[in-house]
Amino acid sequence: GAPVEVDIADLALGELKTVEWRGKPVWILKRSPEMVASLKKTDGQVADPKSERNPEELTPEYARNEYRSRKPEILVAVGICSHLGCSPTTKLQAGPQPSLPDDWQGGFLCPCHGSTFDLAGRVYKNVPAPDNLQVPPHMFVGDTKLVIG
Ligand code: FES
Repeated sequence: GAPVEVDIADLALGELKTVEWRGKPVWILKRSPEMVASLKKTDGQVADPKSERNPEELTPEYARNEYRSRKPEILVAVGICSHLGCSPTTKLQAGPQPSLPDDWQGGFLCPCHGSTFDLAGRVYKNVPAPDNLQVPPHMFVGDTKLVIG
C-alpha cells in the first residue's frame, strides 16, 4: 500500500486523530507533558516496557524507547488489539473510571476481553493481549507532516 500523509499541524495537546493505513486504523496522539510523564509511572506495570518482544514487527528501531515514538509527544500506533484483533477504545484521561484500575494513567481499553494499554500502546501485565500495539513505520517531514508507511 502507498504511504499515507497526514497533516498534524492542527492536532491539539491531548488530541487523538485516527487515519487509515493499509485498511487498519492508525492513531496519532499528541501527548501532553502530563501524558508523557505518565509513562514513567506505567513502566513497572507494563509487560514489555522496552518493546523487546517481536521488535521487527511491532516496533521500528527509532521507536524502541520508553515513548515508543520518534518524538516524545507524538504517538503513532495501530489501533488493533494484539489479542484477537478488536479495536481498543480510547481512555485518555487518567483517574478512576469503570472497567479500569483506580490508578489508571490514561491509555486504551479493549472492549472484547479487557486488555489495557498505556499511552505508548504498551500492554499491561496480566491481560489477555500478549504484545504492545504495533507502531507502524513512520517519519516526519518538517514539523507538521507525518508520513505513515
Ligand atoms: Fe482485545 Fe481480546 S481482542 S482483549
